[in-house]
Amino acid sequence: MASWVDHVIWWQVYPLGFVGAEKELDEVRGEVHRLPRLQGWLDHLISWGGNGLMLGPIFTSSTHGYDTVDYLQIDPRLGDDADFDSLVSGMHRRGLKLVMDMVFNHSSDEHEWFRQSRSSRNNPYRNYYHWWNAERGKPPYRYSLFDINHDAWKYDSLTNAYYLHYFSRKQPDLNWENPQVRKELYDIMKFWADKGIDGFRLDAFQFAAKDTSWPAFPQGYENHFALYYAMVPGLHKYLQEMNREVFSRYPVMSVAEGAGNSLQDAHDLVDGNRKELDIAYAFDGVDLAGLNGYDFLAFKKVFTKWDSAFSKKGWLAIFLSNHDQARLVSRFGNDSPPFRAHSSQMLSTFLLTMRGTPFIYNGDELGMSNAYFDKPEDYRDVQTLNEYKHQMQTGGDMKLTLKKMQAGSRDNGRTPIQWDGSANAGFSTGNPWIRVNPNYLQVNVSLEEKDSNSCLNYFRKLTKLRNENKTLVYGSYKILDEENPSVYAYLREGGGERFLVLLNFTDKPASAHTGMESGKYVLGNYNGPSPDGMLRPYEAQIYRLGP
Ligand code: GLC
Repeated sequence: MASWVDHVIWWQVYPLGFVGAEKELDEVRGEVHRLPRLQGWLDHLISWGGNGLMLGPIFTSSTHGYDTVDYLQIDPRLGDDADFDSLVSGMHRRGLKLVMDMVFNHSSDEHEWFRQSRSSRNNPYRNYYHWWNAERGKPPYRYSLFDINHDAWKYDSLTNAYYLHYFSRKQPDLNWENPQVRKELYDIMKFWADKGIDGFRLDAFQFAAKDTSWPAFPQGYENHFALYYAMVPGLHKYLQEMNREVFSRYPVMSVAEGAGNSLQDAHDLVDGNRKELDIAYAFDGVDLAGLNGYDFLAFKKVFTKWDSAFSKKGWLAIFLSNHDQARLVSRFGNDSPPFRAHSSQMLSTFLLTMRGTPFIYNGDELGMSNAYFDKPEDYRDVQTLNEYKHQMQTGGDMKLTLKKMQAGSRDNGRTPIQWDGSANAGFSTGNPWIRVNPNYLQVNVSLEEKDSNSCLNYFRKLTKLRNENKTLVYGSYKILDEENPSVYAYLREGGGERFLVLLNFTDKPASAHTGMESGKYVLGNYNGPSPDGMLRPYEAQIYRLGP
């Protein structure tokens, strides 16, 4: 692993992921984040101490970025080759790293490979995708995450066969079992690595390998994605091949979405001797929060379990949000006005004082919260809209469905970043593809720049502390006062240094029994500790302890 990989603080930005719904749905169009504009975003990134940009898919796509039509072309809605080259060189000039999102579990149904594949059973590209000839009867059920009927096999009358799509109908799954497909995809990676990018995110990759004998899954468990669809044997072999063909030949970092079903899977992914990936990106933590909140003790246990499993070997991503989640502060903190800023700062303290590589989703550094759109027509995300249709068609409880959308839709996390108080939060002169969060007048970069207590300014202090103290990156982690129902307390220790972190996850005063002397107060989100020694609502404190 290249030495910079573990201490970059990544900022995730998804420029095209949200262009609009699928064509099978009502078409929604609006302006997106063009690449030349992203150049301006880099100043913001540098200003808060980030040093890497993880860019969502920017290849030509039929709709929302995750259905690629041409892996070698920048989507014209975003810019052109020259814009991309100048983004890369501009970033490198400023010492920033760029990671691209490779959507390789599936392509678009408008990709030339799929057009060919679809056209006849004898076409040389037929085997680039998974087909089931209809004279064999119906294929064994497979669940689709985004399909209106949640059926992953779509019948195509042209050749009287079904094709497989774990995501939407416009995202047919590529056949990784075909060596020719793998070669094409490695060549694509080389093409971008030759352009000088610094790494790859592999989208939905844990689903890429398939058992093509298509066994039936146990009844009632057919939709258990983690158990039956992820990390099918073959996947590690493909990653090792990808490593030989691509990663080992370039100074790049690699991370795949998902870390399998078990700690063993996750370990295997990033075990240096196996030569697969650099960073394991596990969902156990981020998945804890649901419609009714989350279990705080379980939260502490999950992060403690993962840390201890990786304490000697391997490296983890630290994150609580991304473009597939509602907003961090709304899920794990408290986005009501009196608590939004403090709880967001407290969560940022967690992300930047844990061992691993932090992935910060754009806007979380500002404490951006859920938009809670109350009209179905304000939503854009294919998953959200297809689920809405599914509920309509199956007589679902539409009130509850809307409630779930408001709390959980990915669109909550996808509204444009809030730059200032001008129209559309300073998005651009055009109309964004989705409405901005109405709270942009109170929460935006311009206001936060001026407020010394803002989320943004606190975030800066945190990244500075982390960047200057490698103990916060590499040091050991030890949880304290484990059963405390309100406070997450832990110690980071290494190189003769010790940091104590105290985080009150509740809206009430609380205290922790750590058994530690209090040490020197280094940073917190309340202008110094309270004289009575209590932690105030959502207070975060970091102490440097004596050796
Ligand atoms: C991944 C992406 C998500 C996308 C899906 C299908 O889960 O993170 O945004 O919709 O893959 O490509």
